[in-house]
This record gives sequence, C-alpha cells and structure tokens, in this order.
Amino acid sequence: MSKLIIEGARRLKGEINIQGSKNSILPILAASLVAGDECVIHNCPRISDVDITLKILEHLGSKVNFEKNTVIVNSENIIKNNIPNLLMRKMRSSIIFLGALISAVGSAEISLPGGCELGPRPIDMHIEGLRQLGLRVDEGYGALRCSNEGGLEGCNITLSFPSVGATENLIIASVKAHGTTVISNIAKEPEIMDLVAFLNSCGAKIECRGEGTLVIEGVQKLHGAEYTIIPDRIAAVTYMSAAAVTVGDLLLKNVIKEHIGAVIPVFEEAGCTVQTNSKNSLRITAPTRPYFNRMIRTMPYPGFPTDAQAPVMAMSCLADGTSVFVENIFTNRYKHVGELLRLGADIKVEGRVAIVEGVKRLFGAEVTAMDLRGAAALVVAGLGAEGITKISGLSHIDRGYENLENNLGLVGASIKRV
Ligand code: UD1
Repeated sequence: MSKLIIEGARRLKGEINIQGSKNSILPILAASLVAGDECVIHNCPRISDVDITLKILEHLGSKVNFEKNTVIVNSENIIKNNIPNLLMRKMRSSIIFLGALISAVGSAEISLPGGCELGPRPIDMHIEGLRQLGLRVDEGYGALRCSNEGGLEGCNITLSFPSVGATENLIIASVKAHGTTVISNIAKEPEIMDLVAFLNSCGAKIECRGEGTLVIEGVQKLHGAEYTIIPDRIAAVTYMSAAAVTVGDLLLKNVIKEHIGAVIPVFEEAGCTVQTNSKNSLRITAPTRPYFNRMIRTMPYPGFPTDAQAPVMAMSCLADGTSVFVENIFTNRYKHVGELLRLGADIKVEGRVAIVEGVKRLFGAEVTAMDLRGAAALVVAGLGAEGITKISGLSHIDRGYENLENNLGLVGASIKRV
C-alpha cells in the first residue's frame, strides 16, 4: 500500500501550474459521446477519474487517444448501450453517462454509480427530469434500464435543488430532444458553463437565460470540436491552503479568479495577500501565521464550494482564532476531521457544524484519507505540521489531483510517495 510521507513545516515558495478541472472534464468526456465524431480536448488532467471515464468510452465503442494533456475521442461507432457494474461503481460521476447514452443511442443499461462516501447521494432529480423529457426508466436490482425509441420531447423542468450532476445529465440528454427544453433552478457552477460551451462548440443550441435558466433548442445532430477545459478551481484552493499553512508564497498559474470569488476573501481575512492582477494567475503570500475567526457555510455556486471546505478547514486548524464551518451540501463530509485530530487539531463536530479552535502547532502522525477533498486536507495539514505525516488511502488523491507531490516538491515541500 503506498503512502505519502511529508516532512512538514517547510516554507513553500515558487510557481504551480493549475491542472484542468476534474469536474469539467468528466461530463465533457461523456458529452463527447453525443458528438458522434472526433473531439479534441485540451487541458485534460491526468487523474484516475479520467482513466475510468476513458475506459467507459472505450467499452462503449469510442476510440480514445490520450497524450500529455490532450485527449482525442472519436465516438463515430458506438456499439453498446450498457456500462458494466465494475466501471460504474468506481466513480459517482459515471451517472453522467445516462444522459449521454440516451442522447447518443436512445437507450442505456447501467447499474447505480459509486464514488466518494459523502453521505447518501441519490439520483432522484436526474431520473425525474429525464422522465419529464419522456424517457422510460425501469429501476430494479441496483440497475437502471432506460429507453426512448422515438427520441426525447423538449419540456419545462424545474429542479428542486440546483444539483450539478442532474443539471449536466439533463443538458446532455436534451441537446437532441425534439423542440425546446427549458431547465430552471440549474446549478451555476463554472463546470456547467464549460459543458454548455463545449456542447455549443459541437453544434448544440443552448442559451443561458436570466438567473438560473437554460433554454435548449434540440438539434438533429452534433459534430466534433476542439475544446480547452477550464482550470480546476478546487486544486487552486488546495494550493492556496498549502501556502497559508507554510507561511508560503505561491504563484498559481492558470487560475480564473472569478471562479474562486467566494474563497479569495476568506484567505484575505486570514491575513494572506492575494494578488490577482495578472491574467489567469494568482499570487498568494501568507503571513507568519494565519488568523481565522469566521463562519463558512458551503453553498451552491457562487457560494463557498463544499469541495473547498476540507482544505480550508485544514488551514484554519493552524490559524489563530475560532472558525465555524456549516456543511450545507453533503451530510457526511467531515471524515477528515478524525484524521486532523490525530495531527493535534482541535475540532468539534455536531451534525452539519464543525467548530475549529486554531492550535499553535500540529504534529506529524499516520493518517488515512477517506475521500478526495478530505485527502487534500490531510496533505495541507501535513505540510503545516511539525515532523513526519504518513498519509495512506492515496487512491482518493489520485482521483482528482494531477502531480500533487511533484508540484509541491518543486516549491519546497518534502513530500514523497513510498
Ligand atoms: C458535483 C461535484 C462534486 C461537488 C458537488 C457539489 C462532479 C463530478 N462532482 O457532485 O465535486 O462536491 O457537485 O458542488 O462534478 N442530490 C439529490 N438528488 C439528486 C442529485 C443530488 O438529493 O438527484 C443531492 C446530493 O445528495 C447532495 C446535493 O444534492 O446532497 C448536491 O449534489 P450535486 O450538486 O448533484 O453534486 P454531484 O453532481 O454529485
């Protein structure tokens, strides 16, 4: 079993190039199935969730070529409509293939997805919306059988919550529906807008109208396209947290500052200087020790992202002051807390609320990552802790972070995988 060994309390200084967005590339790769043609996608991160997605595409009949950070997918000959249980269970976001298969071949047979253990992650909104579009969905024995021979019919759908996955599934499913589909109360995350821009570059007709509404005019056919994925805002926040706990000075390249608009003020209030004047880069300089006396409530975009909660909490553990986190998106997203306590953090959790009393020092210990962003929190805490931290459960990190230890090593961290 591999582990990350971090010798902490070293100042980070230098440049890091931020990877392409995990949460953009996954739905865009699924949507490339609908293009039915060659799509060239740049800035694709080399992470295990992408590997699984590409395996699903190959299983369905797509030809895939992945070199450096460019992936070429050709989905001219889709030969299957089913995804094996083993592949589906490896990744929660595999559910996005439901909308993609329906749109590409008119039917889908898939088992229910797996993924991060963040509490129950139902797909009722996905199914309800797809049924409104006229899809026949049979559920049973942990699987879904869906079909619609004559194609989907455009309609008005209002989501009861702005779910990211449901919004993406419904967009992909309806690009070739007959007539007009209007989806209200959509998720407004930048990754949704990236998916919309990709599909439009493939010939879809999707328009953002007003606050939280998308209007999709169904088209008969899409075509291939060349597209560049947006940078990963959560990877950027992870490195910002690492800078904050190491009295660091990091220049992060390939960052869209508007995408982390709710997070930048949190670091500024903690005493960090965040400069965003140069194009697509951000420099964060941390004071001797951050101070943190605030409340953080996770919210749908443009609010504070739930994915940033864990790394920012790790930062708050080493700050002066008391902070209160309220997790509003997922019910079980404090799995990193028990591990942070092993490093000497002072955190109390009651339901959705976590109270963090900053401590003067954390001390290295053996810890286990239990989900992707929790893993990032342990890396941040390990970088700020005195002594050696050993992190296991690295498959979680590999799901979403490209070259994490190389990037950190190049800016002065002592971090290696053994
Ligand atoms: C996506 C992101 C994840 C991020 C999350 C919230 C990807 C691959 N993953 O996950 O990193 O943390 O958005 O920003 O993009 N829900 C239901 N019924 C549904 C759908 C969702 O009850 O049909 C609930 C979920 O259980 C959760 C909440 O809605 O409590 C938000 O989920 P959703 O926005 O759908 O997140 P994901 O798409 O799973």
